[in-house]
Amino acid sequence: MAKHFYTPNEWFYIRNHLPAPDVSAEDYELDVAFDDGNEEITFNLSDLKTKFEKVEMTSSIQCGGNRRAEMNEIKPIKGLMWKGGAIGNAKWGGVRLFEILKDYNLTGIKHVQFEGYDEGSDGSPYGASIPIEKAMSGNVLLAYEMNDEILPRDHGYPIRVVATGIVGARNVKWFKRIVLSEEESHSHWQRSDYKGFNPSVDWSNVDFTKSPSVQNMPVTSVICWSKIDNGQLILNGYAWAGGGNRIIRIDLTTDKGENWFEGTLNEQTDDPEPKHFGWSLWSASVPISEQKEIEVWCKAVDSNYNSQPESFKNIWNLRGINSNAYHRIKVKSS
Ligand code: MTE
Repeated sequence: MAKHFYTPNEWFYIRNHLPAPDVSAEDYELDVAFDDGNEEITFNLSDLKTKFEKVEMTSSIQCGGNRRAEMNEIKPIKGLMWKGGAIGNAKWGGVRLFEILKDYNLTGIKHVQFEGYDEGSDGSPYGASIPIEKAMSGNVLLAYEMNDEILPRDHGYPIRVVATGIVGARNVKWFKRIVLSEEESHSHWQRSDYKGFNPSVDWSNVDFTKSPSVQNMPVTSVICWSKIDNGQLILNGYAWAGGGNRIIRIDLTTDKGENWFEGTLNEQTDDPEPKHFGWSLWSASVPISEQKEIEVWCKAVDSNYNSQPESFKNIWNLRGINSNAYHRIKVKSS
């Protein structure tokens, strides 16, 4: 993963809750509606591509359950056992959601709901929503290009939402409908999933109405590759923080925190925070003594000086969301 600052499209993780629909460019339509049913307007693909300025943005998209497998070692979790692979970084090309919404009277609108063309067996679409402030920030894209290529079907062809810095679940693919509302989306994935809880809450006492939906994601980092060479442990990996924060430092230790070394941030965009949405790739060379097995930990620090928690135990939650404790790997010398 850490070989490419822009994750090649064919390597970018795919997460679908419902069967992927086949949407043709000719038939594609995006509806914009108010939830009081008052006004509705429809754009086709050519409208979106020609009537609005095309912009490009670098942004990572990370699944809310990235690194869930590590949290699952503490106590079993229901969900896909992602290790560190449910994240990718891309250059997205498309039109700002702001451009599409700016001429509407948005008085009283608090949430922008998104619906996809994909439907469950009951006919209801995949859905999510983001707060109106984020939607109007200029940092949400309706993307039709991914890394200078036409958006691939698996990633939402012909149009997807790129809600920069926000949990993957709100980055709706095969984008069909915008609903401007006082309320969050009523979809299962907005109201009854992608939320965090106190570590002692389990399936017998969970109340999804009590917890806000995850929007911006916390800081995380992962060691992707390691090698021992000449008394040095050579490492590389990625680090990312949601909410438009930049990664400012990577810390590493091979003795459980007695001594810390600093990694080098090799690649990141120069987008200023709080509009820094791409990940950072880093590498490090840490001196090691003669040991058969080394355990190395890493943590990142973002531009708000937020860092990662030490243990998964104290952030455990029943869906394994925001699983961002120190990344720890064991490296064996041959
Ligand atoms: N959009 C639609 N329409 N249907 C989906 O199932 N999955 C969401 C989001 N958008 C989903 C969707 C989830 S949970 C994630 S993590 C991201 O898409 C994954 O985007 P990717 O498959 O392009 O990596």
